[in-house]
Amino acid sequence: MAAEARHFKYVVLGGGVAAGYAAREFAKQGVNPGELAIISKEPVAPYERPALSKGYLFPQNAARLPGFHTCVGSGGERLLPEWYSEKGIELILSTEIVKVDLASKTLTSAAGATFTYEILLIATGSSVIKLTDFGVQGAESNNILYLRDIADAEKLVAAMQAKKDGKAVIVGGGYIGLELSAALKINNFDVTMVYPEPWCMPRLFTSGIAHFYEGYYANKGIKIVKGTVAVGFDADANGDVTAVKLKDGRVLEADIVIVGVGGRPLTALFKGQVADEKGGLKTDAFFETSVPGVYAIGDVATFPLKLYNEQRRVEHVDHARKSAEQAVRAIKAKESGESVPEYDYLPYFYSRSFDVAWQFYGDNVGDDVLFGDNDPASAKPKFGSYWVKDGKVVGVFLEGGSAEENQAIARVARAQPAVADVEALKQEGLEFAAKV
Ligand code: FDA
Ligand code: NAD
Repeated sequence: MAAEARHFKYVVLGGGVAAGYAAREFAKQGVNPGELAIISKEPVAPYERPALSKGYLFPQNAARLPGFHTCVGSGGERLLPEWYSEKGIELILSTEIVKVDLASKTLTSAAGATFTYEILLIATGSSVIKLTDFGVQGAESNNILYLRDIADAEKLVAAMQAKKDGKAVIVGGGYIGLELSAALKINNFDVTMVYPEPWCMPRLFTSGIAHFYEGYYANKGIKIVKGTVAVGFDADANGDVTAVKLKDGRVLEADIVIVGVGGRPLTALFKGQVADEKGGLKTDAFFETSVPGVYAIGDVATFPLKLYNEQRRVEHVDHARKSAEQAVRAIKAKESGESVPEYDYLPYFYSRSFDVAWQFYGDNVGDDVLFGDNDPASAKPKFGSYWVKDGKVVGVFLEGGSAEENQAIARVARAQPAVADVEALKQEGLEFAAKV
């Protein structure tokens, strides 16, 4: 006979960033022991995922759990497994949900366990796109690695140990490509990046911004191959990768290959059961989906971005944290017949590698206006870009900003000040932001 379903008032499906921040908000708003469960296929309590491509890979004093459990990434309390048990919040780990029936409010795990709920928060995040998905020849060879979760990070650290001082090829010129090529370089690998576009991170960077990072990386000894893709891999008798074959005919020797060619929101479990849009689960301004009592937060949510009056999906940590808090506040307010203000999000992305660090706020649409010193050889580079649309500044990027300067660019992106003279804006640079 099948075991009886375990019932919880609230279930968070997924145990990543959004789950950790949701748990903290539930505790803040008041949750009774036994009411809330987090079900995660990962074996550990929620943690700050950005650490995996940064501190986790440092050659010395590397970050390790329990050091970076949520919510330390935003300067908050570190929620250890004991915190969850003290609050009576159940962490159901190493448990993959393989079937979801929203009509009967039932979740089924790979091991056949069932869970029922009154309110569901979907926080399944994203999975990596793999080269095996496109049938790239040899892509299943050993040491062709991806980075999404702690198990991937452990594999990567083991491979770096096994192939010490070897050659690394990084496939992809986005976030993972830029952060991981730096990480491999500081671990003394001979690093080559390969990506198809004319410059790195084209979904955010302009050519002027990319000019700086490509030059800076080249000065660190990283080789960059642009305008082509990996079409196959060679391996030795053990199945370990030895070379990357490029579409343009070149062959790059490799002991380790790291692939960062994008993510895909994990929404397949809900297909046909809930409305979707732009690849995510469509929500309202409180993160409730088309099914009452079912919420979607973090990477999987396509939500109304009030500032731009359109539905968007955002794959960044700041939104994962804030969407989780908004959903929980809305759920608790509804229970007491109250309401919370609509989500009014200002997009915020950031990255850092080597000694450089940037922040971006707002929207990268319209005309871009580069300012400051973007010479990759500068001793203290500081530059940025404004994006101007319909005579207003709608987005700002800044490399090397202080805390106050980063706050200033956030204010600009939120206030959207008018600019009459784009040339004057370029000359004023950061001074313009300081006055807003
Ligand atoms: P998240 O991926 O954090 O969590 C999803 C959880 O659900 C995982 O625990 C997963 O195992 C679980 N799950 C999925 N399906 C399941 C199922 N069927 N059953 C059970 N469990 C299931 N952003 C940023 O702004 N700045 C940064 O520096 C970085 N750095 C960064 C580095 C790396 C290596 C990655 C992979 C990502 C980043 N990001 C980032 C992006 C950021 O981490 C991401 O947007 C958030 O983690 C999204 O939070 P979620 O909770 O939505 O998903
Ligand atoms: P991405 O979308 O940032 O970059 C994908 C890159 O893959 C593209 O820029 C392109 O250069 C490259 N590409 C696409 N097809 C290719 C091919 N066939 N061969 C070679 N290159 C190809 O995705 P990512 O870097 O893989 O990151 C995955 C997820 O993790 C995203 O959700 C991202 O937001 C998140 N992440 C964010 C940060 C951050 O915010 N600092 C850091 C790491 C990861």
